[in-house]
Amino acid sequence: MNAPIDAIDWDADAARFGRIELDGGITVVPETPLIGASIHGVDLREPLEAGRLAALTQAFLRYKVLMFRSEGAWRLDVDAHTRLCRELSEHWDIRPDTPQKEQNHSSGLTVHPFLPWQRGYSHVWPTSSVTGGGKQYALRASEDVENFEPFAAEKRSVRKKPLRASSNVAPRKLKPHRPGQFGAAAIAGDVVKNGANGFHFDDGFFDQPPSAVVLNSIVLPPVGGDTIFADMGAAFRGLPDEVQAWTSELTQTMDWRHAFPIWEQQAARLAEQGDDILARHVETLIDAYPPSRQPLIRRHPATGEFSIYANQGFTRAVEDVEPEESDRILGFLYRMAERPEYQVRLRWNDVGDVCLYDNRITNHYAVSDYGDVGPRALHHIALLGEPTETPAGEVVTWR
Ligand SMILES: [Fe+2]
Repeated sequence: MNAPIDAIDWDADAARFGRIELDGGITVVPETPLIGASIHGVDLREPLEAGRLAALTQAFLRYKVLMFRSEGAWRLDVDAHTRLCRELSEHWDIRPDTPQKEQNHSSGLTVHPFLPWQRGYSHVWPTSSVTGGGKQYALRASEDVENFEPFAAEKRSVRKKPLRASSNVAPRKLKPHRPGQFGAAAIAGDVVKNGANGFHFDDGFFDQPPSAVVLNSIVLPPVGGDTIFADMGAAFRGLPDEVQAWTSELTQTMDWRHAFPIWEQQAARLAEQGDDILARHVETLIDAYPPSRQPLIRRHPATGEFSIYANQGFTRAVEDVEPEESDRILGFLYRMAERPEYQVRLRWNDVGDVCLYDNRITNHYAVSDYGDVGPRALHHIALLGEPTETPAGEVVTWR
């Protein structure tokens, strides 16, 4: 059933047919009644013209997470991935303007300040460089990255360390530094150190966090490595009225050091060994990316929907309340992301599958269960974000 995009009753079609047919052969298959849909009939290697961009934008705003199914017929190279992200960003006409613009914006896309970049593509983060399920995977042979200097510096300092020739004890093997700890070790401690396998949205420490992210699958394990998304708009609507009203007036601080504590730890450890290159690098990062101020409940710039905007990865505290009260509020809000009723668990079926998620109103969790099954590598591009607004429509000032 094809209808003008504005006339589509998504929920009625979903209830009746289990799918929504759009013009141009696009099929939207909801993965749950609430959040997440698979998209069939779109070959993302081809540029998207305005009609398709408009239709896919409507599907995106309704389902918040779209998984474009390649069915093994196509895969995106880095140029096509980049072009897709620019098309979306330009179609949505996002024009951010923040003090951080010089550092983290490049050609209309977000540049991550301290994750490795695909060489020549500073906006592409190859996720395999720091994640890998139960164990961490080194960069793949074909992966050539920039912005990896702090890690290279540590390797140099390890090499310089003299061996203790007179000791029977084997020299301690220092592992190459990776900015985080994932998988079984993190789960065993019931803590998330670096966020991928904990509910979060991306880059909350930016003044204007990314509006959306496009993940392109490069290498997939035969099974495992699903991604879970939580609808934080539905989670907000599930709160008691008085809690909605009360939290809507609160502000939070987000800090990358909360999500990546290992940077400062490693910098301190290296400094003790007389190598302060990482410490100096961390100082420049703290300077360029001080904690951001964000509303605790956010108004979506396109739909007006309110959502829980606390983020287990980056939120450090609720402002203007006692620390214990802040912990209590955040603990309560974080648990909302963990309710299955608000979630969709998306499987990556085929290399080439591409996932577009709304970073303004969802949290996600990279399931870290594939360590012994095989590697998983996704290319991550974040689209620029808008100023964040409170439910009352006020823009929260940055500092
Ligand atoms: Fe993430």
